[in-house]
Amino acid sequence: MSAVSTEKMSSTYTLFTILFILIVTVYFYVRKLFCYWQRIGVPFLQPKFPFGNFPNSILQKMSFSEELQNVYNNSTEPVLGIYTTLKPSLLVRDPEIIQDILKANFSSFNHRGWYGNDKVDPMAGNILLLNGEKWRQMRSVFSPAFQIGKLRAMFDVINGCGGSLQKFVGQFADTETTVEMREVAAYFTTNVISSVAFGLDVDCFANPKSEFLKYGHMFFDASFKNIIRSNLAIMNPTLAEFLRLRFTDKEVCDFFVETVKLNLEHREKNNVSRKDFFQMLIQLRNTGKIQDDGIDWRGYESASTAISFCMYELSKNPKLQERAYEEIVNVLAQHDGQISFESMNAMKFIESCIDETLRMHPPFGVLTRKCTKNYKLPNTNAIIEEGTMIMLSVAGLQSDPKYYENPEQFSPDRFSSEAMVDKNFLNMPFLTFGEGPRVCLGAKLGKLKVKVGIVHLLQRYKFELGDVHNKPLKFHPKSLVKFAVGGINLKVKAR
Ligand code: HEM
Repeated sequence: MSAVSTEKMSSTYTLFTILFILIVTVYFYVRKLFCYWQRIGVPFLQPKFPFGNFPNSILQKMSFSEELQNVYNNSTEPVLGIYTTLKPSLLVRDPEIIQDILKANFSSFNHRGWYGNDKVDPMAGNILLLNGEKWRQMRSVFSPAFQIGKLRAMFDVINGCGGSLQKFVGQFADTETTVEMREVAAYFTTNVISSVAFGLDVDCFANPKSEFLKYGHMFFDASFKNIIRSNLAIMNPTLAEFLRLRFTDKEVCDFFVETVKLNLEHREKNNVSRKDFFQMLIQLRNTGKIQDDGIDWRGYESASTAISFCMYELSKNPKLQERAYEEIVNVLAQHDGQISFESMNAMKFIESCIDETLRMHPPFGVLTRKCTKNYKLPNTNAIIEEGTMIMLSVAGLQSDPKYYENPEQFSPDRFSSEAMVDKNFLNMPFLTFGEGPRVCLGAKLGKLKVKVGIVHLLQRYKFELGDVHNKPLKFHPKSLVKFAVGGINLKVKAR
């Protein structure tokens, strides 16, 4: 044998040895990792390499929310150890423990846990992703802006956008063309946000190609990149950090950062002062309380989703739609025919329709917390270690027959004030807006927008399901926010 071939054989041998050692090391590492919940003494779901218990979300066959809901439905345990890829996480099913985590023991779970890196992505510096002292400061700075008094002051702007929605939908009335409600509702909510947040008159009804709409859609777009990014940011933040992933596409981020910058320059240069959120942000910035707009205004997507699902359910249930219409007529008769902040508040049945929609179709089906201080699981000896991600299946809890009788049925009356008398979080868990000190800051604004949109639609028109809806809705398997494949297509009749 020649010296050359001996050398070749020896290097092949070395390569195989290294490969073998590598495989054995990975095998034992993963085996140890997958024994985590067994060691801690928590019941768990047997994982598979490399995606743990969530292969379908990673392979984009199902949304993470739906896969987590399946895990929720197939278990009866109060808590269940799961593996989000290789990472051990804890699914908490029991409302008492959920309440303990979100409220009573907030100091051990004050982190939402999502990955965000403001060094590679300036938009990651927003309140949604901030933690600790930075989050606390920003929350206390922004909270007053979302109080009832401020919402009342904004009402006319929101109502004006509602008027444009009503007018726009009129062109479909008594024609063969159906209206795609999710898209049209997105025009409305984008108009609202661009007016109240930036003081800009972006009329998406006149200009559906508006950049605001385009970039907003791009953030929630169920593209391969977005899904991998959002799934990893929630399921395995450590891996997302290692890969230095961005939370938002550079193009989207540049657009929003540039909009804020230009608007700021315009106001300062021209001494423009308006009664909107943006003005308040300028004041806070000038007093050194904040550096930039730290709110993620793209919350409009969830409101437009809620409007479209509510309109779907009311079209499917004509008697409930008629009840909602009668409420509008009766309440407006007592308020000089005016849609106002007060008359809107008096529409209790429509409020229940919105709550029931948000129960059945929560825009975000998953809620997360990261353990920031070791925590003893109630009624066990198990210690949940710092760093562990807590997963709550909003969709699972809100369609669990244990808490909601006939959960697949749209029954707004379960949210009536009479029905709610003996209800609390333990016997009727509702997590669409989250809970505890990190509850959604824009919940009241979000619900107000949804209500204004729905009242304007029902006031003038009657809606019926389009022919495409002769079979049950199918939901997008990849999207972060829940939406129906093919949209919500409704026939419109003038009243
Ligand atoms: C129907 C509409 C909306 C839904 C369903 C919704 C839902 C949520 C949920 C589930 C959270 C996480 C809460 C938690 O972790 O406990 C959240 C947080 C948040 N939402 Fe909303 N949201 C909506 C509209 C809005 C609007 C219109 C705004 C304002 C522009 C907004 C601003 C925020 C902020 C700032 C946070 C972070 C709060 C914090 O970490 O302290 N949301 N939202």
